[in-house]
Amino acid sequence: MKASNRAPAALLFVLTFTASISLINSALCRERERQALLSVKQALDDPSNFLSSWDAAVDCCEWDGVLCNNLTGHVSELHLQSPDSGPGLGGKIDTSLLSLKHLRFLDLSQNDFTGTQIPGFFGSLVSLEYLNLSYAGFRGIIPHHLGNLSNLHTLDLSGSLAVDSLEWLSGLSHLEFLNSNYANLSKVPNWLQVVNKLPNLTELHLSSCGLDHIAPLNNTNFSSLAVLDLSSNEFQSLVPNWIFSLTNLVSLQLQRNNFEGPIPSAEKT
Ligand SMILES: *[C@@H]1O[C@H](CO)[C@@H](O)[C@H](O)[C@H]1NC(C)=O
Ligand SMILES: *[C@@H]1O[C@H](CO)[C@@H](O)[C@H](O)[C@H]1NC(C)=O
Ligand SMILES: *[C@@H]1O[C@H](CO)[C@@H](O)[C@H](O)[C@H]1NC(C)=O
Ligand SMILES: *[C@@H]1O[C@H](CO)[C@@H](O)[C@H](O)[C@H]1NC(C)=O
Ligand SMILES: *[C@@H]1O[C@H](CO)[C@@H](O)[C@H](O)[C@H]1NC(C)=O
Ligand SMILES: *[C@@H]1O[C@H](CO)[C@@H](O)[C@H](O)[C@H]1NC(C)=O
Ligand SMILES: *[C@@H]1O[C@H](CO)[C@@H](O)[C@H](O)[C@H]1NC(C)=O
Repeated sequence: MKASNRAPAALLFVLTFTASISLINSALCRERERQALLSVKQALDDPSNFLSSWDAAVDCCEWDGVLCNNLTGHVSELHLQSPDSGPGLGGKIDTSLLSLKHLRFLDLSQNDFTGTQIPGFFGSLVSLEYLNLSYAGFRGIIPHHLGNLSNLHTLDLSGSLAVDSLEWLSGLSHLEFLNSNYANLSKVPNWLQVVNKLPNLTELHLSSCGLDHIAPLNNTNFSSLAVLDLSSNEFQSLVPNWIFSLTNLVSLQLQRNNFEGPIPSAEKT
């Protein structure tokens, strides 16, 4: 039976061949992702030549700011925060970023995307676990599309953004860290009810957000909360009791508000 003798040999060949292909791939950047990054670079303004190592001749996993998964070769992290010296990245963020299907980490903080809105297509980067857009020059309304990033555990949006609603946050059930300092939340009276739906939230920074209303809560869902910063807002009420039921709290900042009345004593809780 020639056929049955040949079959194992063919199978062995296929297995060996596949194994060596994947070994090669583990060391090299994927072609499709390399092309995507080159398109991203082309659309950006880069006055400080931060992306000078993004050279078609070199493996993209070796480029500055790019990290690949060392087993699969897929681009998994982009560290594109502006270095302290010189102007940051500006210009346009190209949609070819969406070709990076395995991107877990994206940091664009401290850049110069002056006055443009956060692109809505960021909401389609669904593998993201970490997104840092703080002080990147983005302005205008935070797009609700970010609520599609259901794997996100860290979201830093601090800077002068505007917010018309926070309902989209409820899509981010894994969220552990949220910083929205300096975002104008004065049109979002239910901010507390929304963040209270995030069961794993451990850090919440809403300093200087123009907040003037802090609701009473019957149930504190965000009982994991360890850091709560509500400083520099416009609260004028009593400090609500639910704050004192947050048993995991290690840092509480309420300064620069106009809270009234006594702080409830520990014996009462
Ligand atoms: C892959 O990277 C992880 C951390 O990013 C490291 O702990 C691990 O040792 C690396 N594995 C190999 C095979 O290099
Ligand atoms: C986001 O980026 C800023 C500036 O680079 C940094 O200070 C901050 O710690 C980052 N946020 C998180 C949650 O890592
Ligand atoms: C993403 O979010 C937007 C706005 O909330 C919504 O219109 C859109 O259908 C969502 N897309 C996906 C793929 O879930
Ligand atoms: C919340 O955190 C716990 C413990 O880390 C984890 O088991 C759980 O899956 C998390 N829930 C969500 C919705 O992320
Ligand atoms: C925040 O938004 C409200 C309503 O749009 C506006 O009246 C107010 O001036 C804004 N506050 C700041 C500090 O920009
Ligand atoms: C607490 O979280 C659960 C699950 O996310 C949600 O169904 C419930 O409505 C939340 N409770 C409050 C008071 O927001
Ligand atoms: C808290 O509970 C009381 C009594 O059960 C109820 O009347 C009130 O509407 C609840 N408040 C909120 C914010 O859920």
